[in-house]
Amino acid sequence: MRRDFDCGVPEISDYLRDRGNNAAWRNAAKPWVAVDADVGVIGYYVLVASRIERKKAPADLAAIEPLHAIPSTYLAAFAIDRRFQGRGYGSDLLLHAFITAANAARYVNSYAMDLHAFDDRARAFHVRHGFRPLGDPRRPNDLYILLQDIRRTLEGYGDLV
Ligand SMILES: CC(C)(COP(=O)(O)OP(=O)(O)OC[C@H]1O[C@@H](n2cnc3c(N)ncnc32)[C@H](O)[C@@H]1OP(=O)(O)O)[C@@H](O)C(=O)NCCC(=O)NCCS
Repeated sequence: MRRDFDCGVPEISDYLRDRGNNAAWRNAAKPWVAVDADVGVIGYYVLVASRIERKKAPADLAAIEPLHAIPSTYLAAFAIDRRFQGRGYGSDLLLHAFITAANAARYVNSYAMDLHAFDDRARAFHVRHGFRPLGDPRRPNDLYILLQDIRRTLEGYGDLV
């Protein structure tokens, strides 16, 4: 099932297809995979504990942590199989990633979710869901959203966290 996954971006498809064979991936990484028993993998994502350098952080993040790098949750991979794109699965899966990040932040400190958008389309998708540029003009696809904004989004869906 995993081997057929194709989101249209080889690097991101391979991440799910090939790393599944790697012991380090099996033991360390935690992919969240949306599967339909009949059609296979619909999409997946990976979250990683990370931190954003204070000097690279926009004012709202820098204000949270005046001395050190800002603990964050990095969306290391995020993709929907081509057969299912444009039907709302990406938005649903991102909501799931928000829930996972908000739950993890109850135990491991995190103030934001950050990511590197693969291209303009992915960037537009994430901006529509509340992400903003981290602010480095040379890296316009580096985006973040505050955990407090994620929690506010989740409030609209009831008791999810
Ligand atoms: C970016 C990505 C994850 C979005 O997933 P998706 O399932 O297509 O996302 P959604 O369907 O929720 O939203 C995408 C579009 O479909 C539209 N849409 C949402 N639900 C819809 C529905 N029921 N019917 C028709 N259109 C719908 C949205 O308005 C949105 O509009 P757009 O065409 O202007 O982008 C997906 O395109 C992908 O995997 N791309 C390749 C890998 C990649 O770039 N990953 C991100 C790395 S940062």
